[in-house]
Amino acid sequence: MDKVLGTINGMDFTIGDSLLELSYLIAALLFVYGLKLLSHPATARRGNLWAAGGMGLAMITTLLLHKNDSGAGIPLLNMWIIIAFIGIGSAIGWIIARRVKMTAMPQLVSLFNASGGAASMLVALLEYPNAIAGDIGSILVTVLGLIIGSVAFSGSVIAWAKLDGRVGDIMKPFMTYINLVLLIVTLGMGVFVVFSPTPPSDLMWAIYALTVLSLVYGVMFVMPIGGADMPVVISLLNALTGIAAAMAGFIYGNQAMILGGILVGAAGMILTMLMCKAMNRSLLNVIIGSFGGGGAAGAEHEHGTIKEIQLSDAAVLLSYSQKIVIIPGYGLAVAQAQHIVHELDALLEGKGIEVKYAIHPVAGRMPGHMNVLLAEADVPYEQLVEMDAINPDMPNVDVAIVIGANDVVNPAAYDDPSSPIYGMPIIDAHLAKNIIIMKRGMGKGYAGIENYLFFNDKTRMLFGDAKSSIQKLVNEIKSM
Ligand code: TAP
Repeated sequence: MDKVLGTINGMDFTIGDSLLELSYLIAALLFVYGLKLLSHPATARRGNLWAAGGMGLAMITTLLLHKNDSGAGIPLLNMWIIIAFIGIGSAIGWIIARRVKMTAMPQLVSLFNASGGAASMLVALLEYPNAIAGDIGSILVTVLGLIIGSVAFSGSVIAWAKLDGRVGDIMKPFMTYINLVLLIVTLGMGVFVVFSPTPPSDLMWAIYALTVLSLVYGVMFVMPIGGADMPVVISLLNALTGIAAAMAGFIYGNQAMILGGILVGAAGMILTMLMCKAMNRSLLNVIIGSFGGGGAAGAEHEHGTIKEIQLSDAAVLLSYSQKIVIIPGYGLAVAQAQHIVHELDALLEGKGIEVKYAIHPVAGRMPGHMNVLLAEADVPYEQLVEMDAINPDMPNVDVAIVIGANDVVNPAAYDDPSSPIYGMPIIDAHLAKNIIIMKRGMGKGYAGIENYLFFNDKTRMLFGDAKSSIQKLVNEIKSM
């Protein structure tokens, strides 16, 4: 296996080396194939497994075939230490991923981002002293890996704490200026380290200072961001983690790390832009703006009266409709009502009624939350219709059933310029002929604002936990 095939830059290139490079190429192809499958809920699970398989292959071949500059493989003791920690990490990841509730997924993603950022930060810290003075290319990727990895790490920890309700928003206007100064100082320090002629071993103070500055910046940058903007920030931090991993890949000249990192960075960036588009905001506006979350409220509207609907009336209304649209939101996920809502739609379809689900891109608490939730209950994908496709048809809908959704159907987005969600596209539930809203009480949504759809003349409220309300409705329709 160690037969020398040739020499590159004065170093022997063996069969083992070519097998290692080949395995990285296969891993990269598997990452891309996995990403492609992730683009549809029906194939997403397989996509994840293919991409994980690619990463597994790259890890195994690195352990077995990697050699250092003097041609020696990984020492046996180090090998066992690495395997032991991979085992411990995998076991922890497996247990957490199996136990986590769907509604707590964004917190888990934040913790994964934090681990990725921390890993890149540590790689940069460990490898910087080995950099050669004047080798600007390698020092640049190390410094970028350090800054981006540290920001992604501390920012993701804060994002986790905010999403988990452990830390509130701290949003003062002057923080924008502090953050700007902090960013300039951090980047200035980075430029100094990259271009300094001083040998890296004598510049460790600057590297430690840069680490602290970047960590503080990560905290300060995420701290003021309003609750409703957190998914965008998590996606941005995810992209940063990918870029930091790519930098770590450049440090080691490892193709699999570079490619994997670039793919995560690019995918995260695309998702960030898509979410900004779904909320009709620019990324800059999200980062320095103060939308939602902190309880910002729009102008007070004249409230009409709330009208409730009895179960029997709701059952009759639904049974004699021709076209029904179900609009799921975060409350559906909290109530775990996905299975029973599928039973309701099957029951109604059995009566010859057309039932569709209207999917808002940011309904719930993470991208694709509603698609994943309904897929779990085996709702056919053809029944899920994206917001832009269903809105033109809403005036023809006999009943819009809003289940545990609030912000994503709030007409203030259209006609209240003072509302924090003004400009965000919504599902046009207000255009349907009848509207039934299922929620527990008059609780607000994520953006913390009033929803005057609840006071609309066509709206009737069915109060109660979504799961038990739908269960009772199903029983009522069956008994008709
Ligand atoms: P929300 O506006 O958060 O409203 C959810 C509603 O569900 C609440 O008003 C609540 O009212 C009700 N609810 C809670 N538990 C319930 C239960 N067990 N049964 C019935 N109803 C229940 O949800 P949405 O319309 O899906 O909007 C999502 C919001 O979250 C947007 O502002 C979005 O920007 C933000 N966000 C989205 C994401 C992504 S990427 N999807 C991530 C983070 C944040 P009651 O208390 O009265 O029951």
